[in-house]
Amino acid sequence: MKKIIILLVIALVAFIAYKGPSGFVGLLSMSRTAQEASEKQKDVLGQAVAKNGQKVLVAYFSWGGNTRKVACKIHELVGGDLYEIKPQVPYPDKYKQAVEVVKIEKSQNLRPAIAGKLPELKNYDVIILGYPIWWHIEPMIVKTFVESTDLKGKIILPFATSGSSDVKESVEDLRKTLPGVEVRDGLLANISAKIKPWLEENKMLK
Ligand SMILES: Cc1cc2nc3c(=O)[nH]c(=O)nc-3n(C[C@H](O)[C@H](O)[C@H](O)COP(=O)(O)O)c2cc1C
Repeated sequence: MKKIIILLVIALVAFIAYKGPSGFVGLLSMSRTAQEASEKQKDVLGQAVAKNGQKVLVAYFSWGGNTRKVACKIHELVGGDLYEIKPQVPYPDKYKQAVEVVKIEKSQNLRPAIAGKLPELKNYDVIILGYPIWWHIEPMIVKTFVESTDLKGKIILPFATSGSSDVKESVEDLRKTLPGVEVRDGLLANISAKIKPWLEENKMLK
């Protein structure tokens, strides 16, 4: 009796697997496809031409998710490509530990490595660049990103989220980091109602 039950179970599993997309194998491949799709949602590369006709990249770094939300909103409005700057060595999840790492990076003027392949920045006219304010300016990994390619001739549109600090100090710092590059006045994007007018002002929505 036991043997018959085991044989029946084996036959049932074999039958479901054989049925393909609607069966067991199908379920496995469906979950993989869903995972791939959600991974693609994070980075959208290869569209480049935005709604205003320019080649636009929305590039951002986010530790806690605030800046990511704004970046996705901006990408939705503007079009073009979306890229997340991810550190090769992830920052600790816990605030206190992350602060320790960030303090060292800043005091030693480090350039933390970025994970994976960078987008070809030379292919874009405009880079909309988002980051959280860390100790009054942009995180050091954002400097790694902007120093990775010669950005002369490009327009950089910075935006930031913060606890309360303004974006101005980071814009000044980016201007010093990128002499000869057009770094426009940035947006402190803590209030979402300010996003659309800022994009309109910079002719990103035409
Ligand atoms: C290491 C560190 C330093 C920070 N420094 C500042 C600061 O100088 N001024 C400020 O207003 N907020 C500061 N914040 C708060 C973040 O800028 C703010 O929470 C931001 O929205 C986080 O964005 P994210 O969720 O995309 O990482 C700091 C946060 C961290 C983790």
